[in-house]
Amino acid sequence: MSKRVASVLVAGAMVAVLAACGSGGGGSAEKGSGHKLVVGFSQVGAESGWRTANTKSIQEAAKKAGVELKFSDAQQKQENQIKAIRSFIQQKVDVIAFSPVVESGWDTVLKEAKDAHIPVILTDRAVDSKDESLYASFLGSDFVEEGKKAGDWLVKEYAAASGDVNVVQLEGTTGSAPANDRKAGFADAVKGEPKFKVVASQTGDFTRAKGKEVMQAFLKSQSKIDVLYAHNDDMALGAIQAIEEAGKKPGTDIKIVSVDGVKDAFTAMSQGKINFDVECNPLLGDQLMDLAKKVKAGEQVPRRIKTEESTFTPEQATAALPNRQY
Ligand code: AHR
Repeated sequence: MSKRVASVLVAGAMVAVLAACGSGGGGSAEKGSGHKLVVGFSQVGAESGWRTANTKSIQEAAKKAGVELKFSDAQQKQENQIKAIRSFIQQKVDVIAFSPVVESGWDTVLKEAKDAHIPVILTDRAVDSKDESLYASFLGSDFVEEGKKAGDWLVKEYAAASGDVNVVQLEGTTGSAPANDRKAGFADAVKGEPKFKVVASQTGDFTRAKGKEVMQAFLKSQSKIDVLYAHNDDMALGAIQAIEEAGKKPGTDIKIVSVDGVKDAFTAMSQGKINFDVECNPLLGDQLMDLAKKVKAGEQVPRRIKTEESTFTPEQATAALPNRQY
């Protein structure tokens, strides 16, 4: 064999080895073989403006990152999410991500994913599983902190009040992390002040329609309501309709503190109908795609990634409204 032929053969072998490394590692969305990273994502539903913005963010981010997204809408039902996760396992997706509708009851299906060697990322909401090996990372807000911010605002707002302050609470979906945590954080913030009385508290399932319905019932059953604490903006917006239909002025006769910071709530704030809004950021798509790539590549990722969030007074919301993305 001539020297020239031998060196061509060596160079060819090196190219083949490098190509094999590139396609086997799974570190990038577009692998050497042309295989795209496949992410199965089970979304809670389409219950709120926040959720719609979250879905859009994830779908757009997947496109941008060259990730094939298998998207499934659970319509607020845990059994639908479990079915979707099982179907992702059968389809052998690279990574499973989901936003759990409720906190408990996930261990069995998460164990199935683990046995199939498919990493799982929790987005937005947590599970109460004791076995942390069942998921790789949890990306989302600190809901206890959000509830605390709402409670802290209330304490300041009523610092000078001496009589009872009657609060009604519209809770999110029963058993969900944001409902549990926002309730706990709020209770913690006001616990040192006996004048705050939570006189009624019921789920409005994070929807506008339910928020309105439950607020109508509160208005009938309670003789004096000073404050509404809503676990999300959609329920607050539904409640505003009920308050107005009852002939009262939202934001004045009944003060309203809410969570999310969606555009419609900012509009209501600019009209004086909501007094304080705690931000919950739905724009998690880019971070999720980045995490999915890293997890698939076997890179170390933080177990908990908290979303940066702020709060809004009516003045701040009015100023932010023209540029609000969701
Ligand atoms: O999990 C986030 C919460 O779920 C948002 O506050 C709410 O609007 C949504 O439905």
